[in-house]
Amino acid sequence: MSNSHVKFYSGETIPLELHKTRIVQKLNLVPIERRLEALYEAGFNTFGLNTTDIFLDMLTDSGTNAMSDNQLAAMMRADDAYAGSQSFTRLHQAVKDVLNAQYFLPAHQGRAAENILACAYIRKGSLIPMNYHFTTALAHITEKGGQIVELLYPESYKIKSSHPFKGNMNLEALEAYIQKHGKERIPFIRMEASTNLIGGQPFSIENFRAVRAIADKYDLRIVLDASLLGENAYLVKQREAEFKDTPLAEIITIITGLADIIYFSARKLSSSRGGGICTNSEVIYKELEALVPLYEGFLTYGGISIREIEAMAVGLYETQDETVISQSPSFIAYLVNEAEKKGISMVTPAGVLGAHVNAMEICSHIPQTQYPAGALASAFFLISGVRGMERGSISNQRDEYGNETYADMELLRLAVPRRVFSLSQIMYVIDRLTWLKDNRELIGGLKFVYEPPVLRFFMGRLMPVSDWPEKLMAKFREDFGDSL
Ligand code: F0G
Repeated sequence: MSNSHVKFYSGETIPLELHKTRIVQKLNLVPIERRLEALYEAGFNTFGLNTTDIFLDMLTDSGTNAMSDNQLAAMMRADDAYAGSQSFTRLHQAVKDVLNAQYFLPAHQGRAAENILACAYIRKGSLIPMNYHFTTALAHITEKGGQIVELLYPESYKIKSSHPFKGNMNLEALEAYIQKHGKERIPFIRMEASTNLIGGQPFSIENFRAVRAIADKYDLRIVLDASLLGENAYLVKQREAEFKDTPLAEIITIITGLADIIYFSARKLSSSRGGGICTNSEVIYKELEALVPLYEGFLTYGGISIREIEAMAVGLYETQDETVISQSPSFIAYLVNEAEKKGISMVTPAGVLGAHVNAMEICSHIPQTQYPAGALASAFFLISGVRGMERGSISNQRDEYGNETYADMELLRLAVPRRVFSLSQIMYVIDRLTWLKDNRELIGGLKFVYEPPVLRFFMGRLMPVSDWPEKLMAKFREDFGDSL
């Protein structure tokens, strides 16, 4: 039985907040004219916007999940000590209890953990099979001269699908890849929980068990990116028959038990800040240990503030609580399903982290050379004040010869952090998305005016290829009068 599912008498499927709001933050819904100025100032990159101009910040769930009263209370008892802090002991205990791993190395966030793993294991010519890449994981691997290969099933690349586990590793392709290249060049297989860039899509335990069997056959290690593990476990409970009655806490440890190394962004996993790497192998621990004081900080804080370490410990325990973890996926499912009913093309089935709008369809008139997902992110901010994130070709990096590598999917990601937005705010998002879909032909393309060589989507600056933003704004005024 689920302890987060509430049926409505009306038969409607409505996500219900299982918490109350006790501290609030005022939002800024500024007129569209100011939003247009803000877009130019931001270089048509939503990372460049400031929250003074943003109404609903759906950029990411990273560091933006609502924290609980217990997390905030725990922060007050922080035991500031460079070494041997009691706060760290509490966090270490939480890692043992929740992730079932005995050894823990803290790092200041997820990509710092990726850096440590890359420093330890990636050499020129290393090959890393994975279900799918994440931007920072890829950047660290390629920076060290490694190469990745993504091994999803063809179904996973379909925007519209009813497959419950689009994050599954393609098992036949994995085994063929290992046989072809030899296990010597493969330092580890990377599995990402709730595969971020294809729409927050989970893998099944059945699939992960099979990956484990292949790893064992070839004596290879598995690294699990557990940043979105809580929600992956929740969707396993929802979608994988074997686990429908298994408590979330147990599903989490079944998954972590299949990996040799687990790393995570605590900005996501535990609704705090920070990150870390854990393992049950003393050998692995020793391989990594020295890198933490070198890059992060001493072993008992790893670059994380001690207050955040306390929040991380409590947040980790809260990932076992279905009434916490169900919130984001159930609001996302509402957003996705209602948007689909209005004819907006979304990634289905609804995943975790956020709702993903298919820019390839809404902006089918914009060629990939003009970044349809980036254009949609800008246009949507302009007409709604909602900040999403481009997850398409701008988020891809150029290949070693400097050529564009166009993304498999051009998505506008609208993140739904845990327990942050209300249902009427989600309804506003659907309303404005519907208007934009009906006026889609007014959206135009973008071009780079400043393109940094690494992780260009963060700092890059773009410009519209025509005066389409002005025309879109004029149509908004025509239809909405003086409404915000
Ligand atoms: N792995 C995954 C699956 C992630 O989603 C992220 C971050 C990281 C690693 C890196 O962690 O940010 O703490 O350094 N994802 C954020 C996002 C940035 O918006 O999706 P980090």
